[in-house]
Amino acid sequence: MCGIIGYVGKREVAQVLLDGLSRVEYRGYDSAGIAVLGESGINVIKATGKLANLKSRVGQSRPQGWLGIGHTRWATHGRVTEANAHPHIASGGRVALIHNGIIENYQTLKKKYLADEEFLSETDTEVAAKLLGKMLAREGDLHAAMRATMKELAAGAYAFCAISADQPNQFVVARRSSPLIIGVGEGENFVGSDVPAILPYTNKIIYLEDGESARITPDSVEVFDVNGKPRAAKPKTVNMTLEAAEKSGYEHFMLKEINEQPAVIESTLAGRVSKSGIDLSELGLTAAQLKRIKRIQLIAAGTSHYAALTGKLLIEEFARIPVEAPIASEYSYSNPVIDKDVLAIAISQSGESADTKVAMELAKKNGALTMAISNVMGSSIPRMVDATLYTRAGIEIGVAATKTYMAQLTALTLFAAWLGRKRGEFSATEEKKLVADLKEVPVLMRKLLASKLVGVKRCAARYQNVYNFMYMGRNYNYATAFEGALKLKEISYIHAEGYGAGEMKHGPIALMEGTFPTIMICVDSPIRDKVLSNMREIKARDGVIVAVASEGDEEIKELSDYLIYVPRTREQLSPMMTVVPLQLLAYYTAINRGCDPDQPRNLAKSVTVE
Ligand code: F6R
Repeated sequence: MCGIIGYVGKREVAQVLLDGLSRVEYRGYDSAGIAVLGESGINVIKATGKLANLKSRVGQSRPQGWLGIGHTRWATHGRVTEANAHPHIASGGRVALIHNGIIENYQTLKKKYLADEEFLSETDTEVAAKLLGKMLAREGDLHAAMRATMKELAAGAYAFCAISADQPNQFVVARRSSPLIIGVGEGENFVGSDVPAILPYTNKIIYLEDGESARITPDSVEVFDVNGKPRAAKPKTVNMTLEAAEKSGYEHFMLKEINEQPAVIESTLAGRVSKSGIDLSELGLTAAQLKRIKRIQLIAAGTSHYAALTGKLLIEEFARIPVEAPIASEYSYSNPVIDKDVLAIAISQSGESADTKVAMELAKKNGALTMAISNVMGSSIPRMVDATLYTRAGIEIGVAATKTYMAQLTALTLFAAWLGRKRGEFSATEEKKLVADLKEVPVLMRKLLASKLVGVKRCAARYQNVYNFMYMGRNYNYATAFEGALKLKEISYIHAEGYGAGEMKHGPIALMEGTFPTIMICVDSPIRDKVLSNMREIKARDGVIVAVASEGDEEIKELSDYLIYVPRTREQLSPMMTVVPLQLLAYYTAINRGCDPDQPRNLAKSVTVE
């Protein structure tokens, strides 16, 4: 949420900033802005809307300088206006600041210290900028001023990057709860909200910890710990490529990422499955730790929560351990029962979702063993837990999660079976069979994607103008219904609801009539007949059914208005297959409605505020 970039060095600063912002635009695109420090002082340029607007405003008359900061905003405090866009200035334009996060006590600070200041925006960030300006006047040094400012920010989250015309050779950064990384170059240095921002320039990264700050010049990076004392920080080399950040001939990242899913399953399995079974020794969990687990909590938000719902079924079936799958933002404030026999697993593709992070802090504080399933190495949540199982989906740029969901389902299947084996609940034969079936999924999925799914396109064209959609499934495809509905509402702005098909008769059946479409997921499973009965109940009310069914299922034809076949696979793995047409249905519906599937309105990729 909010993209950040900072640069000091000899390259053309405005170019580096705009370039970097284009790689983190998925974090927010309500407005964007840059500040460049040069001979004439600090030059700030901002524009509302997508980065393209800022790019055209910067145009050919680029501000010249040697130091600069840039920001893409996802609005929290204050509407989407140019005044509210970052950078915010203080000290008569001699200080500029960008921020990702929320300062919760900004009103108190405003009254206490800044009654004499004139504010240009409605943001909490401008309060932080003005406070930094005040502290700079008092301390006479930008870094000391940042530390003094941090002391006042009692509540909330921040990643800050600030420059001052009075110390023109440096920028200072600080973070608490919001991500920030430093990229180390030769005769130049960088800062970013995440690695892709700076990856074309360097892969040597320093990860700042909570409460830390840094002073950065072209030739030095000084890191200060939570107490403001210097800390030796050695850069880590990251092995990430930018290939994932290119569209590679696809019209949108989302379509590319949907098509990458078979490869994502394979890379998440690679090195973890073999003839002898599943090996997750990389987790470093001891036999004693695994034995002690009496309950598991799968904590997540959004799409990751739907992966968690499927993970619950997998773990309970394969490992016979009771699993809860709470929404992260509810868990933290509901007084959940946590003790040392709980394994709390955060599922977060970004590893940065504030809701999930706060929930994991609570689990940790109460003695739970903690683990993460995440797609981003070195992100905040993996850094705070006892063990991490990384999904290997590559960078996901489309704001709506697709391939990372697939990777989470793969990782959860592996984990459930591995845990089951370790605890003696899952036999070697069952494990071998599961591994074989898992390996088959990408093969079948490639065939499905190659078939171009004409039925999906037809369906998208037919229903692109409806106001409401229902998605239903049961058991392993209960969560798929929710995920399908989320995809549609996120990128096409059509209201869609996920529901358990068996629950329909307890209320939503009242909605069924001649024009109301329901997506019904009805693949091979022990409860297929029950789902067929649910479909008959809809048909008896003249409702419209789009069925997602197992290839060759003839019986379902007479119950569906549209029929989308997916390859047959065992029920536990079927969510991997059934979600694909639902992702594509959302994609094509969005395209037909003229919506941008990669950057849907009001959303941001990584939600780093509560
Ligand atoms: C939906 C989507 C969001 C995320 C949610 C959690 O397409 O992308 O619902 O799934 O914000 O994000 P992570 O997994 O990064 O914690």
